[in-house]
Amino acid sequence: MLDVKKIKRDFPILNHYIDGKPLVYLDNAATTQKPKVVIDAISNFYENYNANIHRGIHTLSQKATIAYEETRLNVQKFINAKSYQEIIFTRNTTESINLVAYSWARHNLKAGDEILLSQMEHHANLIPWYELAKEKQITLKYIPLTNDFRLDLSNIDNLLTPQTKLVSLTLMSNVLGTINDLTSIIQKAHALGALVLIDAAQAIAHMPIDVQKLNCDFLAFSFHKILGPTGVGVLWGRQKLLTDMPPFLTGGNMIASVYTDRATFNELPYKFEAGTPDIANVIASNEALNYLNAIGYADIMAHEKCLTAYALDILVKQENIILYGPNNTINRGSVISFNLNQIHPHDLGQVINDSGIAVRAGHHCCQPLMRQFNITGTIRASLYIYNDEADIDILAKTLQSAYKVMGHVVTR
Ligand SMILES: Cc1ncc(COP(=O)(O)O)c(C=O)c1O
Repeated sequence: MLDVKKIKRDFPILNHYIDGKPLVYLDNAATTQKPKVVIDAISNFYENYNANIHRGIHTLSQKATIAYEETRLNVQKFINAKSYQEIIFTRNTTESINLVAYSWARHNLKAGDEILLSQMEHHANLIPWYELAKEKQITLKYIPLTNDFRLDLSNIDNLLTPQTKLVSLTLMSNVLGTINDLTSIIQKAHALGALVLIDAAQAIAHMPIDVQKLNCDFLAFSFHKILGPTGVGVLWGRQKLLTDMPPFLTGGNMIASVYTDRATFNELPYKFEAGTPDIANVIASNEALNYLNAIGYADIMAHEKCLTAYALDILVKQENIILYGPNNTINRGSVISFNLNQIHPHDLGQVINDSGIAVRAGHHCCQPLMRQFNITGTIRASLYIYNDEADIDILAKTLQSAYKVMGHVVTR
């Protein structure tokens, strides 16, 4: 099991007070906090070997290049990619998905083709496809949800058709906490010749990811959700697909030769990394991977399962609560969305904040999902490795007094 007290000491921000109350950080689905080793790696870079990469022969540049490329090799291991050439650094998950939309989809899809999404997707995995669909007369289809907030696959054989060219799905919902078993969908999509993109922005924090085992074609995630800095995302893609795709952004670094009127492009992965990247943060991302690897996903998952069960148990018993997400820990991560009857999530979020607790209140970049539930938003508490039962107890206590403050009777 995790030694949460020890882990907490690694995160300087967790010593902070909010209006005199110790910070309880439950907004990990938005972004995780950073351990000191990650923060130190950023200042170490700027203090000791700040230089641009790949094109310098001086010592600092070589050192920076080696460190930057070490992160790539570590990411390759982390998701079990076949080659470092399949690891593209982007700014975030959103940019990784846009890269696929602009580079692969725009050049391979035509009018009449279909893209299959689900009703639990984040805007990052919706809007790029809306734009493409408008431009190319592509049809977007959606896997609906069951009453217990899971993908309803009962009609999947009709949703997937010979026109389906791409299936783009989240592995874990950032609102519901649902973890999707995508095995059969991936098999069926491939049987029809469609590619599969996995949005792993949430999942990557909670479960080990093996792209070869998953057998998907593209996978996107952001480092800021796994203890790393903001500004660093990853797109993994099969090497053959990436090789055949045209560049996304063009300019320096992504070229092999440039003439007065044309250019040839660099090899993978540099073809997709135009301009100066976020060198310091890519290097610091390696420390986030090392930190996570040292703890190990087996312990992370066991900890989260216990904590989620504890939180669900407490929250579900509140008669005034409406839970949006599976009410058990089977195929479910530690993201818990709810509303208190008749209280607007923003009002409730404010009261929760007054207790020093950071949760998210709103639509969580999932407006279509909110519309489906006929609500404007939810409160979302999302747990990670430095949270413990005491954090949940404070939240539960705050919810009860919030109900009182807002003029309602607490039933329990
Ligand atoms: C499921 C999911 N997909 C995509 C994203 C977008 O991630 P980013 O803002 O890092 O691009 C998020 C962020 O919350 C997410 O939860």
